[in-house]
Amino acid sequence: ASKSVLPTPSMGFNNWARFECALNESLFTATADAMVSKGLLAAGYNRLNIDDCWPLHSRASNGSLQWDPEKFPHGLPWLGQYLKDRGFNFGIYSDAGNSTCGGYPGSLGYEEIDAETFKSWGIDYLKLDGCYVDPSTEARYKQIYGHWHQILSAMSEPLIFSESAPAYFSGEDNLTDWYTVMDWVPKYGELARHSDDIATFDDPDAWSSILTNYGYEVLLARHQAAGYFNDPDFLIVDHGNLTLDEKKSHFALWASFGAPLIISAWIPGLEAEEIEYLTNKNLIEVDQDALGLQATLVSQDGTWDVLTRSLANGDRLLTVLNRGAEEGTLNVSMVRAGYADSQGQEFEVKDLWTGDVSTVTDEIEVTVPSHGTKVFIISASEGCESSLVPTG
Ligand code: GLA
Repeated sequence: ASKSVLPTPSMGFNNWARFECALNESLFTATADAMVSKGLLAAGYNRLNIDDCWPLHSRASNGSLQWDPEKFPHGLPWLGQYLKDRGFNFGIYSDAGNSTCGGYPGSLGYEEIDAETFKSWGIDYLKLDGCYVDPSTEARYKQIYGHWHQILSAMSEPLIFSESAPAYFSGEDNLTDWYTVMDWVPKYGELARHSDDIATFDDPDAWSSILTNYGYEVLLARHQAAGYFNDPDFLIVDHGNLTLDEKKSHFALWASFGAPLIISAWIPGLEAEEIEYLTNKNLIEVDQDALGLQATLVSQDGTWDVLTRSLANGDRLLTVLNRGAEEGTLNVSMVRAGYADSQGQEFEVKDLWTGDVSTVTDEIEVTVPSHGTKVFIISASEGCESSLVPTG
């Protein structure tokens, strides 16, 4: 991926996890309007992405895909302009194989014409799914996604390329093929869905699906850098089976990863407390940090996950997830957070949820509710620099 196409992770909306195939023009216009009025656009959520089930089942006589005029009566170029007029970018979905996962025409054999069609509709972002790729081998995925990469990178303004290929290999007992796919995916595109779908609205296992995708994400930290981002899937903000602490954890973990922040929810109906956490400035800044690194796991047990990350200005991020059923308290030393020779030194610690700043020496005491996540930025005072400041 070229750093200029997508310097920081994408932020916005996609219909899939919340609405699946029940999509239409008014869902997108109402969502855009609500994103403006609720402050989400101003906070950085500037992208609306259409997922599966938007086209007709047949291509036009010239081979191009056609939107379903019952779902999109004014057409996709009209919708694209509606979004552009309000400050949004516009993304679309297709599939590398013969058919999309939902049974609509796939792009196999139509790569050039589909790329041109999307461009001509004012679209700048393509999620390319991987259903019905035959044979479903790593080599075949590499061939098709590589072909798309050639087409897109030759465009005067390349579409942002979100690849779903790794998701088709993550569920296997032996992750060899998954790792092999991950070796080429960052070269071909800007984003990759690496794991199973996050829980849809009617799937009760929302928290466990978040932790499953989180678990795959932590394995892939070395691949991520500004310009290419691992994608653990959507933020399911209005899912009925998540507590507020779980939703906030989901957001805080994804921000710690520098993951795409793509909301799949009925945005006009979101509660004030949901908008409040989604627009947390400190966490969005961390998500969008110019270095683009991903938080890595320092330690994990049955209750606690501790992650850290370097930020562009040399500060260290500390993220603490409590998986347990009770509130708990954990002490984390400054050495664990990445500061060598820190004994007796003072550090400035900012709690990103509250904005509170405190001074600590040696270690920080972190109290976290069940299924909650706390995130801190730790800054060294003069004369005590991080041992892990990147040099590049
Ligand atoms: C797959 C993808 C989902 C969604 C559906 C659409 O399951 O992983 O994100 O795009 O297909 O059919």
